Amino acid sequence: MEFVKKDILSIEELAREEIELILETADSMKEISQRDIKKVPTLRGKTIVHFFHEPSTRTKTSFEIAAKRLSADTVSISASTSSIVKGETLIDTAKNLEAMNPDVIVIRHQASGAPHMIAKKVRSSVVNAGDGMHAHPTQALLDMMTVREKKGTLSGLRVAIIGDIAHSRVARSNIVGFTKMGSTVVVAGPPTMIPTGIESFGVKVTYSIEDAARKADVIIMLRIQKERMGDSLFPSDREYANFFGLTHKAVSKAQKDVLIMHPGPINRGVEIPPEIADGPHSVILDQVENGVAVRMALLYLLIGGSRHASDD
Ligand code: CP
Repeated sequence: MEFVKKDILSIEELAREEIELILETADSMKEISQRDIKKVPTLRGKTIVHFFHEPSTRTKTSFEIAAKRLSADTVSISASTSSIVKGETLIDTAKNLEAMNPDVIVIRHQASGAPHMIAKKVRSSVVNAGDGMHAHPTQALLDMMTVREKKGTLSGLRVAIIGDIAHSRVARSNIVGFTKMGSTVVVAGPPTMIPTGIESFGVKVTYSIEDAARKADVIIMLRIQKERMGDSLFPSDREYANFFGLTHKAVSKAQKDVLIMHPGPINRGVEIPPEIADGPHSVILDQVENGVAVRMALLYLLIGGSRHASDD
């Protein structure tokens, strides 16, 4: 199957077959990261700009590593060190970056829709590295890669997503991705953190984490997105941890081989206790490792041509 997308903006825009192709390509890219010499010439001569308007550890670092492992040239800019602080608009910034002929612009922005707006204005491929409360497609792809790797399939699984659903772009992208791939998704959290109408995405809703965890093959815990809330939606972190933090009792209701996931950063002792985050069911660092492979796959499929990188 040929991959003909210009941009990666959301999981909604990817067909099931395209997601399968990305995950298969990521599987072969992972092998490159396990070699002594972790570099292939596939994207030699290509230029990738990483433009992050919000803090990031995992996404930014893994995009940069992915590009470098494929031999692309990379440049990173942040809002605080760019001329945005002098009043330049986002679109003017994007057009000026475009004038330097990058092949891909990877953008994270606090405003939902910012990557879509830029994608319409530039010839370069645009990859959404997280926009506001809207979408985080590469996180959903690396989450699906991790589950498929551990379970062999995504179809027929029960996936529980627990926490601050309302403010989470990870939740939104994972709901769309896992349901598209044939999983059943149940969401749980405080009523103030479950958006009304979420059932229209094809998910089940519960306000009890034990109900959500029951028979789950996968539990994805979410961080409370305090930076996206106006007023606090719960009395205190301790109160939140008591009612919606993951517990051993909830995990015991899940399948014996349940995977515990978290996109990071973790608030240890709030949404997840350290002994579960670091425990035998946790695949949190596998998610991080697979983030590099998924981002290598996307860069390759967008601008790499037909040659297979792992053949180099
Ligand atoms: N999961 C995730 O997006 O982490 P960062 O914010 O560190 O990139």
